[in-house]
Amino acid sequence: MKVLVVGGGGREHALIRKIKESPKVTEIACCPGNGGISYDARCYPVAATDIDGVVALAKEIKADFVVVAPDDPLVAGMVDALNEAGFPTFGPSAKAAIIEGSKVFSKNLMLKYGIPTAEYKVFDDPSEAIDYIKEKNEYPAVIKADGLALGKGVIIPENFKEAQAGVKEIMEDKVFGESGNKVVVEEFLTGPEVSVLAFTDGKCVKPMVSSMDHKRALDNDKGLNTGGMGTVSPNPCYTEEIAKECMEKIFIPTINAMNAEGRTFKGCLYFGLMLTPKGPKVIEYNCRFGDPETQVVLPRLKTDIMDIFEAINNATLSEIDIEWSDEACACVIIASGGYPKAYKKGLEINGLENGQLGGVTVYHAGTAIKDGKLVTSGGRVLGVTALGKDLKSALEKSYAAVEKINFEGKHFRKDIGKRALAER
Ligand code: AMP
Ligand code: GLY
Repeated sequence: MKVLVVGGGGREHALIRKIKESPKVTEIACCPGNGGISYDARCYPVAATDIDGVVALAKEIKADFVVVAPDDPLVAGMVDALNEAGFPTFGPSAKAAIIEGSKVFSKNLMLKYGIPTAEYKVFDDPSEAIDYIKEKNEYPAVIKADGLALGKGVIIPENFKEAQAGVKEIMEDKVFGESGNKVVVEEFLTGPEVSVLAFTDGKCVKPMVSSMDHKRALDNDKGLNTGGMGTVSPNPCYTEEIAKECMEKIFIPTINAMNAEGRTFKGCLYFGLMLTPKGPKVIEYNCRFGDPETQVVLPRLKTDIMDIFEAINNATLSEIDIEWSDEACACVIIASGGYPKAYKKGLEINGLENGQLGGVTVYHAGTAIKDGKLVTSGGRVLGVTALGKDLKSALEKSYAAVEKINFEGKHFRKDIGKRALAER
């Protein structure tokens, strides 16, 4: 099988590494990929958002299967276009990807079908949103842009002034473009957060092992929100009992709700959950694998991932047994100094050989090869990932390797997994 993976970050590298283990796979292509991915897959310079370009590439290389990983092409209908051109795919149709593409859609879905989530109100007029927040006078408040916003569309103001500024930025200054035509204002929830990725073919849902992301840039959850500075799996807060409750009250009802709306979801559905004192609630849905959750979940997958992808494409997922390793996994992100604000690119990375280092797996998020040298090319640069008999040993291996990898301005959090270790 020749498999084409669309995307070019750490998540895609983790997918490619797992696909490479499949005895069915003879060749892997990736577009656009990155420097580190090019050691594992042939990279083509086609943007992940270029639907016509990706369909043309799939035809040119005669792909047998296409995996679309990022949110924007999914929401824009890349899977629909590939299916129309006759390619088997992994990923939801545009009609189903709206579960991430519109927060107004997903909140209304949860309300309609009784799926637990924060209470909310939708606004398309900024002054009405501001009046509502003023009247409610409860802080922190939560304001979310309706559409995709590169993971930055959530504002959590501590007072009225910040809320007013947030609504203005999203709805008037349109910092996220059309994504800010509407906002959701919702109740602030508390409790540990858990990421659960789930395979589904629209008939059955098979949750993967749980994980915990670390979104803030600095230690002790300080600093700006980022795409994620590290992950661990499993998430110790997510007990078997809670998993059972989530299956009954959230996962199955969501699959059924999407079917009832004529929007059958096939692919990886990401449940961002908060374990509140009143039970688990949905913070957000994503229509795809999480980044960097994938980097700690897939190393624990023992079943051939292509068998799973094909079963989902054929709607026969219930026939497959999916097996997971009992080991723990930790991923520490090495970022460029300054990220998530401005940072330098093109800095030489030292300490790796062919992009890797013994004892760990280095997933490349933002690297390029320039004049034969590996250099930085993004905010998040590398995800240094290790399996261990327990979380402590996985973290020790990751951090030992992180010390050996260097570039100017290298930044990483020193407390990935700290909360998870304290939880046990
Ligand atoms: P997102 O960008 O959608 O992943 O959201 C960013 C973060 O905002 C989440 O990981 C939560 O920590 C936080 N968040 C979102 N909604 C709420 C809420 N209703 N209550 C408390 N925190 C929230
Ligand atoms: N790590 C969060 C996300 O992928 O959206």
